[in-house]
Amino acid sequence: MSGQRIPIARPSLLGNEKKYVMDAVESGWISSIGPYIDRFERDFASYHGVKHAIATHNGTIALHLALSAAGIHEGDEVIVPDLTFIATSNSVRYCKAHPLLTDVDPDDWNMGPEQIIHAITSSTKAIIPVHLYGNPSMMNEIMLIAREYGLLVVEDCAEATGALLGSKKIGTFGHVGCYSFFGNKIMTTGEGGMCITNDDELAEKMRILRDHGMNRKKKYWYDHLGFNYRMTNMQAAVGVAQLEQLDSLLASRDAILRHYKEKLSSHNGIMFQETHGNRSVNWLVTVRLKGMGFESRDAVINELNRDNIDTRPVFYPIHFMPMYSDPSYVNGNNENTVTIAREGISLPTYIGLEEEKIDYIAACLIKAFEKYSV
Ligand SMILES: Cc1ncc(COP(=O)(O)O)c(C=O)c1O
Repeated sequence: MSGQRIPIARPSLLGNEKKYVMDAVESGWISSIGPYIDRFERDFASYHGVKHAIATHNGTIALHLALSAAGIHEGDEVIVPDLTFIATSNSVRYCKAHPLLTDVDPDDWNMGPEQIIHAITSSTKAIIPVHLYGNPSMMNEIMLIAREYGLLVVEDCAEATGALLGSKKIGTFGHVGCYSFFGNKIMTTGEGGMCITNDDELAEKMRILRDHGMNRKKKYWYDHLGFNYRMTNMQAAVGVAQLEQLDSLLASRDAILRHYKEKLSSHNGIMFQETHGNRSVNWLVTVRLKGMGFESRDAVINELNRDNIDTRPVFYPIHFMPMYSDPSYVNGNNENTVTIAREGISLPTYIGLEEEKIDYIAACLIKAFEKYSV
């Protein structure tokens, strides 16, 4: 098959994106004030049933904004999973606080209540549960722990827009939920992010810090050391159009995952994330190839590359990175994280990926896995 390369991800921009962006351009409102920003924030808050949504320029700074507004600072410890995109723990470092990289569950690949409870120390001030690859973390149990210990909870929903735990949307369990709208995400604004909350004070503080710390009633008067973390009206125009289609985007992504599962889950040694019956969303179809090492997994990636299939390794454990090599960042040996990172591979996932391409990818994956497994 396939002389044409199959990409890992591709945005789907088939709704009102172009119309709304043109409208923003023609109106002259191309910077960080404009009707699409207000509308995107209002619509996103309403989709999640929360009081406030604060749009940001990307998901990384959404996390930093939430932590900063909540007063996380030097000396504070923040529990984050070792298995996540680097931005989760970097956002803690930007506050000069100390991320404690904690292991994840081997089945759902998320940091769970058991791992968190063992990580808490007298310096712990916050937890950042990540809904990895769209799979909800066990937020009910995590919130019980947070209440008992008086901890802030910032949910990293970057990969999981629209996921549900029971009938409640993720991002609405913790004090703040943070989202990413990067081009490969469930919905996109090119670059973009959002913080949602029901807390009036946190919302007000995030709005102020997003805008250089400027007093909301007195122009060019700054009460806080703030940032320029604003979203533009053009980004928000794309966001409004994407949100209009979110439920159908999620349904199309579900169908892709179902087809991958039909083709792969009966294969001995290929494992998917466990969802505990929650409504996970399918960001990137990601599987574990049981028994693979970093080298053999990379050999599979190279083989698929030769088959014209673009894939990604699962995130490396954050504690492998030179900036996190100090043992004080690690809570235990984090062996589940290391195993999943070693065995994990993400497969092409985008709206419009045809079933016959999935059949081809699955066949190539099985062939490469069998070739390189020992
Ligand atoms: C888990 C996680 N957190 C945070 C981010 C950061 O989002 P952004 O790329 O929009 O800055 C990402 C995005 O890649 C992510 O996957």
